[in-house]
Amino acid sequence: MNSYVINKIHSTNQKYLSALVGQKIPARLEAQLEQMDWSYLDMIHGKEQKRGTFAPLGAMELPEIESKKETFKAVGLEAVKNCKVGAILLAGGQGTRLGFDKAKGMYNIGVNKKLYIFEQLVYNLQKVTDEAGAFVPLYIMTSEKNDAQTRAFFAEHDYFGYNKDFVKFFVQEMVPAVDFDGNVLMESKDSLAMSPNGNGGWFSSMLKAGLGEDLKAKGIEWLNVFAVDNVLQQIADPVFVGATMLSGCVSGAKVVRKCGPYERVGALCLEDGKPSIIEYYELTPEMAEATNEAGSLLYGFGVILNYLFSVDKLLEIAEKQLPLHIVEKKVPYVDENGNLIKPDTPNAYKFETLILDMVYMMDNCLSFEVEREKEFAPVKNAAGVDSVESARALLLKNGIEI
Ligand code: UTP
Repeated sequence: MNSYVINKIHSTNQKYLSALVGQKIPARLEAQLEQMDWSYLDMIHGKEQKRGTFAPLGAMELPEIESKKETFKAVGLEAVKNCKVGAILLAGGQGTRLGFDKAKGMYNIGVNKKLYIFEQLVYNLQKVTDEAGAFVPLYIMTSEKNDAQTRAFFAEHDYFGYNKDFVKFFVQEMVPAVDFDGNVLMESKDSLAMSPNGNGGWFSSMLKAGLGEDLKAKGIEWLNVFAVDNVLQQIADPVFVGATMLSGCVSGAKVVRKCGPYERVGALCLEDGKPSIIEYYELTPEMAEATNEAGSLLYGFGVILNYLFSVDKLLEIAEKQLPLHIVEKKVPYVDENGNLIKPDTPNAYKFETLILDMVYMMDNCLSFEVEREKEFAPVKNAAGVDSVESARALLLKNGIEI
């Protein structure tokens, strides 16, 4: 190799490998190259995902939920008690915006005391398990980058008081990142710059890890999938579980009322008659501002990455391919001189499948409104919007000592 950055490989594996003929390829790199599917690199040359026709999807709103709360809760709690509900913590992301070099869940969100994000999430789940008198199986998705540290962190903290027999880890797959010209980046002399392949592959990674058997053995019928970075995340919420089960839908999504027509969140809607998520940048001004007779925004409910899926439906769609998305990220790499460069601004494309595309594979989805101030405190950035600061303020507002 004439440099650590491999050039002009976007067309085929063959072409790239021929450029390396006569060179000594380190074993780890060779293995990565052998496993790589190069076809997706074509995506950076203009192949964008085609979307269908969008239409609004109404939500089950707070007043209705409040009026039926006891019924929903009884059904949901019964399901939790009978181990019908499992929880999936998506913790394979790299949290590049936060700029924390360990797994995001290891971040200390506390001020006067230590309170790690993982710890707060476990406490949130324990509210339900204490009430149900039963543990919810918790499956934690990590990536190769943070798997060992995440497992060690849970072990070191005695699973934050959770029953460790009910906690299982599985690792998601990795894909190489490329620079904006389609060149594969190297993160060391013997490895491509590999990134986790997005949060859409969680179920197939789970199955690959052999956890399908565990779901079956335990009789789990519903999986509540949630993001690591919302410290007010309510997990296996019996009201949500009960409402989704009674609705007859095969999936449910927690949503919050958008702050305004142009808030930068994906809105739950219909696409060609199927549940789907429209990104804020896909909304035309007419769609963004459209209201119903009551004056509410038609595309007015944003998703917060808290979904409930029927296991039967997940198994049915398990073989289906999710579309790949290109995301601009900051990816560390070694330059021609072998120096590790940590860029300050996005320098590369990562290829990800997204869980929101899984919603489109469902026949239907209950859009379930929750109170933003009680359930949505995302930690995406170090400061400003959706940050450590804003999440801390929301934790305090909810009476949580930090
Ligand atoms: P984000 O979309 O915020 O991505 O993840 P991220 O990688 O964590 O953060 P940034 O964009 O680099 O700052 C939303 C949720 O999906 C999980 C994250 O851990 C988080 O819970 N996720 C994301 C995965 O589990 N795997 C991935 O490959 C990407």
